[in-house]
Amino acid sequence: MNPKIKVVLEQAKSKIEQARVIKDLEQTYVEIFGRDGLVTNLTKQIKDIDPKDRASFGQSVNSAKKEIVEYFAKKRSSLVISRSSTSIDITAPGKKTQLGHLHLVSQAIEEIVDIFKKLGYSLQSYPEIDWDWYAFESLNMPKNHPARDDWETFFIKGDTNPKYGNLVLTPHTSNGQLREMERAKNPPIRMINIARCYRRQIDVSHTPMFHQFEGLFVDKNVSITDLKGTFDFFTSHFFGPKRVTRLRPHHFRFTEPSFEVDVTCGICMGKGCRLCKAGWLELGGSGMVHPKVLKAGGIDPAKYNGFAFGWGIERTIAMKTELPDIRLLFQNDIRFLEQF
Ligand code: DAH
Repeated sequence: MNPKIKVVLEQAKSKIEQARVIKDLEQTYVEIFGRDGLVTNLTKQIKDIDPKDRASFGQSVNSAKKEIVEYFAKKRSSLVISRSSTSIDITAPGKKTQLGHLHLVSQAIEEIVDIFKKLGYSLQSYPEIDWDWYAFESLNMPKNHPARDDWETFFIKGDTNPKYGNLVLTPHTSNGQLREMERAKNPPIRMINIARCYRRQIDVSHTPMFHQFEGLFVDKNVSITDLKGTFDFFTSHFFGPKRVTRLRPHHFRFTEPSFEVDVTCGICMGKGCRLCKAGWLELGGSGMVHPKVLKAGGIDPAKYNGFAFGWGIERTIAMKTELPDIRLLFQNDIRFLEQF
């Protein structure tokens, strides 16, 4: 090979060799094949070569050109491969992994269960679709009793049972009371039952599906003081040590006497503000279990008595977090959920 061509070939190869990234290689291509490139200049010299040597010179230039082009192709593919295998920039700042957390309702359920466990209650689960007998009848709420209208129940068409009646989407967790008496058979009973409930209602403080927690305590000589002490224990642990409860007379068919339980408002601490009723917020229903209910559950009311309560979880959360509309809990808006 002509020494001139040999020099150009070596120079071109070493330039290609030095390229570290594709961009370098593109620049090298210009330096070799561009207007003033090494090979271009060599081609321009062909016309000045002695005619007898011109053909072989030309052929040598062409084969050098071919060799360089192949060299380029090899280098290019090696750079592409190495780029894809080392595309992680270890010096770049890390991307923060997004961590999820339990939904507010699940968090509250865990918290509530933990508090009642401290008092010796055990968590039980009872059906969300249950017989009329468990949801109403055994709770001293006979069919056609006007009190049943308050529960705005979804009835399920179809199955009826001579003793148990229709199936319903449970409008409260009180069906757990009878189910627990049947399961435990003998007192003492300390049960907490948490489940979804369904009612035909929707507004800022109601959703058609919501959660309640039901407590049942049955033993000998249970008094209203026990009930009040249990509620104070719960509220001071759940809402904070400064919050206390009060009992307001009420009426439920399944408890006698019956109460509404109020807790001091977290904003004004009982003084009275825009958010509460003269310093108090309503937590839910409670009372001493009606003797007829104990009897329906196979427990002798002459020997045993007890108390029960049923409170809405969403409502309890709203009272703790000052939530203005409980429907927010079920809209799955990440901007809302992230705040808890
Ligand atoms: N089940 C009632 C409701 O959903 C709440 C309730 C009131 C539950 C009194 C009880 C109770 O256990 O004793 O409105």
